[in-house]
Amino acid sequence: MSIKIKNLNKTFKTHEKDLIALDNINLEINTGELVCILGPSGCGKTTLLRIIGGLEEHDSGEILEEGVAITKPSRERGFVFQQYSLFPWLNVLDNVMFGLNLAGSQKEESIKRAKNYLKAVGLEDAEKLYPHELSGGMKQRVAIIRSLVNKTKTLLMDEPFSALDMQNRHKLQEELIRIWKKAGRTIIFVTHDVDEATFLADRIILMGKNPGHIKQVFDNTLTRPRKRESEDFLDIQNKIIDILDNK
Ligand SMILES: Nc1ncnc2c1ncn2[C@@H]1O[C@H](COP(=O)(O)OP(=O)(O)OP(=O)(O)O)[C@@H](O)[C@H]1O
Ligand SMILES: [Mg+2]
Repeated sequence: MSIKIKNLNKTFKTHEKDLIALDNINLEINTGELVCILGPSGCGKTTLLRIIGGLEEHDSGEILEEGVAITKPSRERGFVFQQYSLFPWLNVLDNVMFGLNLAGSQKEESIKRAKNYLKAVGLEDAEKLYPHELSGGMKQRVAIIRSLVNKTKTLLMDEPFSALDMQNRHKLQEELIRIWKKAGRTIIFVTHDVDEATFLADRIILMGKNPGHIKQVFDNTLTRPRKRESEDFLDIQNKIIDILDNK
């Protein structure tokens, strides 16, 4: 058992009225699992992920990691934000190596590791460029690589691939699976894309809104490698869409 959430509630107080963002969330995520949180815009996905990351406080209920309450961010929890955030004064390679440098990794090894990851996403020729010289999709790939390259136990990813074209999105989804299999990390991946959740996750947390709640935890029984064109894949997708549409 890794992360346990019990009767968790979160309300935002706005100038107009109180907004219940998360209503009685109960969830367990095991160490080494790849879980997707899937639901429509505004159902509280980012809020839930930020609470898991220790970036946002909750009002009531419990959130525990290995039995210990999560109250603040940790080096062991990497975060990829919905909006890419790079350091404008560092080039691509130095942006990717930022966390490795902080962790005090050996320089030669860090460079090799960073370059390998850049190559995997087709950015090997961009390592000397600065963020303002990159397209939106390139920036997002650098931001993703920057979190993957760190050896954190848990990766929290908030719609990281949604701004990418289909080809890059599929490439990074496969890269993520590869990294997950190799390093045995826990990955919690937020998306509003049914195809993406079906491709990536073994368990899919289906959320609904007004107020944000968990509708169902769906076990994705598809074997790997997964083929989008297979009948089973489409069948699972349709099942998920039915649950999401069901009020
Ligand atoms: N800091 C905040 N202050 C007030 N309300 C907020 C704040 N952050 C989020 N909310 C509200 O909480 C609800 C859930 O927002 P959240 O960003 O978690 O949704 P989401 O599922 O991530 O949506 P999207 O798919 O569009 O990213 C929304 O109604 C939003 O307006
Ligand atoms: Mg969001």
